[in-house]
Amino acid sequence: MSSEILAPIYPGQRPFHIIEAQQFTREWMEEDLFPLAKSMENVADFGGGSSLRMKRVRLVFYESSTRTQESFESAIELLGGTYGTTTNAGEFSSAAKGEELDDSAKVRNKYRYHCIVLRHNKEGGALETASVSKIPVINAGDGEGQHPTQALLDVYTIHEQLGTLQGLEVAIIGDLLRGRTTHSLAYLLAKFPGTKLHFVSPPEVRMKQEIKDYLDRHNVPHLDYQDIRDVLPRVDIAYVTRPQLERPLQGITSSIDFRGCVVNLEALSLMQPHAKVLHPMPRTFELPKEVDEDLRVVIFRQVENGLFIRMALFQMILGNGNR
Ligand code: NCD
Repeated sequence: MSSEILAPIYPGQRPFHIIEAQQFTREWMEEDLFPLAKSMENVADFGGGSSLRMKRVRLVFYESSTRTQESFESAIELLGGTYGTTTNAGEFSSAAKGEELDDSAKVRNKYRYHCIVLRHNKEGGALETASVSKIPVINAGDGEGQHPTQALLDVYTIHEQLGTLQGLEVAIIGDLLRGRTTHSLAYLLAKFPGTKLHFVSPPEVRMKQEIKDYLDRHNVPHLDYQDIRDVLPRVDIAYVTRPQLERPLQGITSSIDFRGCVVNLEALSLMQPHAKVLHPMPRTFELPKEVDEDLRVVIFRQVENGLFIRMALFQMILGNGNR
């Protein structure tokens, strides 16, 4: 069952469930998704479209969100669909009374929604929901697992900013154990020829072993570091993330030292002129606002691209054709 749910998405195909980044083929991103996202920028700028007319989407968020929730909601509205959102779902849905995820999913399949967008606090939450759902389920982040649509907007932004996704050296910086955006991004970048990954983190929160094993199987070079200064001069992209302090680490009580992961003005001065800095946001001390004036810091363009990518995804999954 799960192999069907996680089937790869090829060009020309209408995607169904979106659960993990491994599903996206490079050809689908380059031939279908990126051009459609580009055209969605015009749709958004000129007042929206109607391709989601009569389409109803349910958003269910068990964890807090600003960008993901609002960009999904805006994407639906801009394409003429409707949505309803359950925020704080652990408290404000029957989950608080002990209802299990599969029952909630079966219930949501009865209300004639056309799609469910789910952010869950446990890894595997989206897959579990998809496994009992006859309507498409989009993973908007599952605990310490993945955040596949974030990775799509990340690679779209890199492609837009550098003009290519081939042969790039990318530093992925911060909490690589618990930060789900870094997991999905590593899986996605592995699909582009010549990628080299530099993982910068304190030793307690190194990149997950299962992801390193995947990179080894796909011959993607990767190295671990503790200090960004060792890699910033050579990279094309610095992808900075925050410490995931709300996710307790088993067996570690003392605070973790993230000083080697701070991209401030001094660190930025080490980077090449063409290089770019991305961050999925929200940011804390690891990317101080002093860097925002530097044109290499493209975090708010990245945010905007999140809207276009999610519009493109809805267009593909639910669109009626004419936008
Ligand atoms: C991220 C998330 O929720 O995983 N935020 C986002 O969706 N852009 C990153 C984070 O919380 O650190």
